[in-house]
Amino acid sequence: MDTRNTNAMPNQATPLDNLDEWEDDILRRYPDPSKINEDKKEEAFRNYEETEKDGVREFYRLNHLYQTYDFVLERKAKYLSFDKKTMPIWDAFTFLNELVDDSDPDTDLDQMQHLLQTSEAIRRDGHPDWMVLVGLIHDMGKVLCLFGEPQWAVVGDTFPVGCAFSDKIVYAEFFKENPDYNNPKYNTKLGVYTEHCGLDKVHMSWGHDEYVYHMMKNYIPEPGLYMLRYHSFYSQHREHAYNHLMTEHDHKMFEWVKLFNPYDLYSKNPNQKSWQELRPYYENLVAKYLPATLSF
Ligand SMILES: [Fe+2]
Ligand SMILES: [Fe+2]
Repeated sequence: MDTRNTNAMPNQATPLDNLDEWEDDILRRYPDPSKINEDKKEEAFRNYEETEKDGVREFYRLNHLYQTYDFVLERKAKYLSFDKKTMPIWDAFTFLNELVDDSDPDTDLDQMQHLLQTSEAIRRDGHPDWMVLVGLIHDMGKVLCLFGEPQWAVVGDTFPVGCAFSDKIVYAEFFKENPDYNNPKYNTKLGVYTEHCGLDKVHMSWGHDEYVYHMMKNYIPEPGLYMLRYHSFYSQHREHAYNHLMTEHDHKMFEWVKLFNPYDLYSKNPNQKSWQELRPYYENLVAKYLPATLSF
């Protein structure tokens, strides 16, 4: 399936040539690779075409316009019943593998390669095997594209809805067009929440992070679930914009999110081992934690 032509919703132009343009833009915002990929220089991560920016900008305009509190509740009701499809995890990877990243000047690797590079970098550094698994599955929620979801409801930085949008969120000016922006129920600092209520009570903008978290929540240790659920919540794990909603426990768990983030952003490696070589290890790992088929 070609995700460039999803037409299930009105007003859902596909400003990104592919989903990875969003992640390329994150690299532009946070171009400080850690040492996990020694054979790449920092400048190499910044070498993106200027033309990409307009697509990213339009992508965020749509994302910030349509991600309302009601939209999130509606999407949760629709997708968190997991009654769309059952398939082995490997079939989901086969689909993701088709989301080829045409525009990335760094590498022409596909989604599966990104997942393997993330998980292999985590494995090389000797982290627990469940974190390696998190590396492998963290973007699996992008299968939402299978169901015709527009780009702005699959990828993009995530943020709380139901309370004021932080000006630390990328392209925050576009929130002025969001219906919740002028709704007194949702536009105060705390909105529908209470101070330090805990992120589990907070509805995040809808996308691949929240979806894969719910899919995996019975199978993966809690720090891994935080990594899955909040890996795109840059306004918190990079900018600390929502401390007022978090508990001490959330902060402790965010140390894991921060540990994970560089593996997601900076682990591109042109010398990645082939899937053929890696397959036996990952089949064992998946079998250790996950059921034979997953519900989508
Ligand atoms: Fe992701
Ligand atoms: Fe990723």
